Amino acid sequence: MNTHTWITHFERNTRLNDTLELPEDLPCRLSEKLRVPLAASLATFQLGESGTGSRLRRYAREVAPLENFRGYQRAIDLFVAEEQSHSRLLARVVRHLGGRLLTKQWTNSVFRRLRFLVNLEFAVQVLLTAELIAEVYFGTLYLRCEDPVVRMVAHKLLRDEMKHLDFQRDFLSERVASFNNLGRLLWRLQFQAVHAITAHVVAWDHRHALRALGVKPEDFRRRCLQAWRRYQDRLEKQVTAIPAGQGTSSSPSPVFSPDR
Ligand SMILES: [Fe+2]
Ligand SMILES: [Fe+2]
Repeated sequence: MNTHTWITHFERNTRLNDTLELPEDLPCRLSEKLRVPLAASLATFQLGESGTGSRLRRYAREVAPLENFRGYQRAIDLFVAEEQSHSRLLARVVRHLGGRLLTKQWTNSVFRRLRFLVNLEFAVQVLLTAELIAEVYFGTLYLRCEDPVVRMVAHKLLRDEMKHLDFQRDFLSERVASFNNLGRLLWRLQFQAVHAITAHVVAWDHRHALRALGVKPEDFRRRCLQAWRRYQDRLEKQVTAIPAGQGTSSSPSPVFSPDR
């Protein structure tokens, strides 16, 4: 994995988020029918981006000694910092929409717990699931919301999350390449299942904002599933391109315990 490229990318890109100038002085002209559910929906995404990543960083230490992942820990630190910059950007949008920031929300709590249940691969996969759905969500906002502040932030987050998808694919392809055929099949099936369940939950949880944007929750789900298929195809191609025996495995990761 070329961690150097990712470190350079995150070092350059993240600072753009904190200096992004938004037309926040302009009053929000969205109808109440859209403004209220959209503010609530974005507040949920804002909370999801606000984690400190402490356990992800701890897991990343496990692969740090491996030759192929030299620098991965630094890349993960910068990745977490970029997600936190997303949280700050989204907080500005929620305030612009007159919404309230959240400190707790049930889907976010489930996500955080799930992410650290097994090992680094699963933690990255759950993050990736959220990013695949975020890609569809911010793409929808960019195309369907007329508010310039919402559109600018949606566009920036969309571009960042597309890069995050590449970052996670670079990591996972090397890990999946170390699995045998049965392991790859099982990994694919559980990834597909986790993604499909998550897409259902997110589409339901954000149904009011989606409907106000003119998108049926079932259409949103369908787009999420298409995005998953495209991503999985690209991942499999990348795995196949790795010469046999060059995928990297690590020692078994410790299972989840509440004090971690
Ligand atoms: Fe993000
Ligand atoms: Fe992300």
